[in-house]
Amino acid sequence: MLFRDTGKIIALFGLSATAQAQEKVQSALAPASDQASGIALLWWAMLIGSIIIFAAVMVILGTGLWRARRRETQLSRLASRNLVIIAGVAIPLLVLIFLVGGSLFLGKDLSSRAPDGSQTIEVTGWRWWWEIRYLDADGELIATTANEIHVPVDRPVRLVLKSGDVIHSFWVPNLHGKTDLMPGKVNTSWFTAKREGVFFGQCAEFCGTQHALMGFRVVAQPQAQFQAWLAQQAENAQAPTTEQQALGREVFTDVGCMGCHDIRGVTPRTMSTGRDPKGPPLIHDLRSSTKAEMAEQDSPIPAPDLTHFGSRTTLAAGARPSTKGHIGGWLTDPQGIKPGALMPPTLLEPQELHALVAYLQSLE
Ligand code: CUA
Repeated sequence: MLFRDTGKIIALFGLSATAQAQEKVQSALAPASDQASGIALLWWAMLIGSIIIFAAVMVILGTGLWRARRRETQLSRLASRNLVIIAGVAIPLLVLIFLVGGSLFLGKDLSSRAPDGSQTIEVTGWRWWWEIRYLDADGELIATTANEIHVPVDRPVRLVLKSGDVIHSFWVPNLHGKTDLMPGKVNTSWFTAKREGVFFGQCAEFCGTQHALMGFRVVAQPQAQFQAWLAQQAENAQAPTTEQQALGREVFTDVGCMGCHDIRGVTPRTMSTGRDPKGPPLIHDLRSSTKAEMAEQDSPIPAPDLTHFGSRTTLAAGARPSTKGHIGGWLTDPQGIKPGALMPPTLLEPQELHALVAYLQSLE
């Protein structure tokens, strides 16, 4: 029992060394990139250093108390003074110089320019989800997705970080430290994933009620797999292959989903990114309970691109696994899962709901 609990506590602090735990826990101590390794190394140096210093202080304190109790002679004046100078001034100074130097060098390394040939990924933080855009070497858009970032292993990834509303912070502990996404400012960062895996990320700056449910995943995969994935993401949406899916597509275009969401090849224009605030007005869902609220909006509400929704493993920025039941639950009552999210409930007949879910799941 004790061992089980200890195991849990160790895993909680991310100290678990098993490969399995590394992939399941977002941990800065299971680094999967050089950047994260540097951060982990500094962390370990600080922890081990602190333990040594704490132990030394305790020994000195214990010795003092012990000697006082046995009424042994006190240290001579000179010895006391030397102790203060060495242990109270010289050693702390050395430790501080080491720590400041270490973090300065590491910080310089981490904030260096991304190498040529990096894959550029633009990440925009919205309340409360992540818009992910893949750009080619000329800065042209290749594909747009949301909340799940695929990256190649052993090729540098350059992140261009923006915010559409308030300050968010991009953090994948296994791959890098935190970088803020600031409204009106562009921050950049880069890392190279050194091994395959699924790494969990989280918004690390309080940004409103659903800050805690603003998660994402980074899927690091071999170059060839990544290229195939990206090529597929660049395609337009798959056409329905069953009657139910066809009905689902009809529901999607009829009830107003495309007022906010894009499905490339289906929706008439790019509205989901919010980059064109003067775009056409929203298509309102007559059955939507928030019709009045939506009518007040004079620009499209940014929402995740759904062109390849079926290829994602979670929905609502990692809030739920992307299964039939959860998708249905999310469409029916998003506020029940993420109160405050901009997604209004979609009031549908059961048959329509099933069709819409089937259609969305088919969009691989
Ligand atoms: Cu976005 Cu916290």
